[in-house]
Amino acid sequence: MSGSTNQSIKPVTAKVNQNGNLSIGGCDTIDLASKYGTPLYVLDEATIRTICKDYKDAFASYAKVNMMYASKALCTMAVSKILAEEGFGFDVVSAGEIYTVYKSGADMNKVLFNGNNKTVSELTLALELGVGRFSVDNFLELSLLNELAKSADKTADILLRITPGIECHTHEYIQTGHLDSKFGFDLTQVDEAVELILNEYSNLKLRGLHAHIGSQIFETQVYHDEIEILVKELAHLDEKFGLKLDEINIGGGLGVKYTDKDCPPSTYKIADVILKSLNESIEKYGIEPPTLYIEPGRSIISTSGVTLYTAGSSKQVPHGKKYVAVDGGMADNARPAMYGAEYSACVANKPEAETLQTVTIAGRFCESGDILIREISLPELGEGDILCVYNTGAYNYSMSSNYNRVPKPAMVLVNNSQSDIIIERETLDDLISHDRIPDRLK
Ligand code: LLP
Repeated sequence: MSGSTNQSIKPVTAKVNQNGNLSIGGCDTIDLASKYGTPLYVLDEATIRTICKDYKDAFASYAKVNMMYASKALCTMAVSKILAEEGFGFDVVSAGEIYTVYKSGADMNKVLFNGNNKTVSELTLALELGVGRFSVDNFLELSLLNELAKSADKTADILLRITPGIECHTHEYIQTGHLDSKFGFDLTQVDEAVELILNEYSNLKLRGLHAHIGSQIFETQVYHDEIEILVKELAHLDEKFGLKLDEINIGGGLGVKYTDKDCPPSTYKIADVILKSLNESIEKYGIEPPTLYIEPGRSIISTSGVTLYTAGSSKQVPHGKKYVAVDGGMADNARPAMYGAEYSACVANKPEAETLQTVTIAGRFCESGDILIREISLPELGEGDILCVYNTGAYNYSMSSNYNRVPKPAMVLVNNSQSDIIIERETLDDLISHDRIPDRLK
């Protein structure tokens, strides 16, 4: 069994080039910083395609697998295009994600709409654009979606999102599968939901069950347990209602390596556990092999991304820490402030220089909590040096904000020594473009 790219801190193409600089996708990161400015999100296409292949190879022994990329990790039109080319469908959670994926030209039949409080306008858009599956989260959504599908003269293919009651050991905010969760039907409510679908909601077609147990998961046993619960429930619905449901969606969650302390399993290991558990459960509960959907987000995109920052001011607290501030921070990467997330970094213009100091990398936003990395060993880092923070592809841009009215950074895609802008840097005029001054103030 081999490794996969989610087990690496750096993108697969990261190297030190002949100038002694860090290069990614064959592009010198110092050239990227001067051409496009900083902060800059850099996304390595080869890393994305490598992990897609890892996933496909890992699950190849099971005939009926559908891979859906969880767009919430990073949703842009170029990223959607790459994932669609790799044969992935999409898990989307908002009109914005639906629209982005649609505009990138994806096959909307391979899109699944998730979310615990989808609005009428979002459900309407999803029906209009032909989204293939709705993962229905609650009783209100069942009746709403049925009404909307009826008025559009359509039948919506649905999965029921269930809460499997599994605790996984990740940050509390990103656990979703435990019993006291805002997501999904409790297992005790599934029969009632199914009765309603069968007897009252004739514009809904139930295809199967969906669950998601959390994110940044390193354990494998939780997937084993989740699958057993889903398959057992399929068998129960067959026995009780004679329903032959043939789809299970187990969500996403596979972790990545942010620092040396993290040891995520490979896609091969996780696939092994999932498929073994699936085959055992199929046998144990006597059902036909269902189509398996998986929805990875972070593990697909995180490692491909790095963020380049320019170092600015620094401060040595007498008898205390040394801070070096960079030109970005919590608005382009909320994860350290929000979850206490840890990251690895290097000085991109001297990645191999001796590490001489322990520094704390501070962001530029007006908040003491805006610290990107606490106490990291680095070479001398001063004004004008370029800091590369690794593993920022997932949940960085997608959770970014304009806090302090700072424009969002640009994103470039690198591959084979070529770099292309895939998200333009916001301008000051972009920032005020939605502002209006009422006439009475003029
Ligand atoms: N499917 C569903 C239904 C989900 O809710 C999620 C993530 C995924 C798939 C993808 O999970 P992944 O493979 O990316 O772990 N903002 C947090 C992560 C929140 C994840 C929410 N749901 C963070 O920055 O760590």
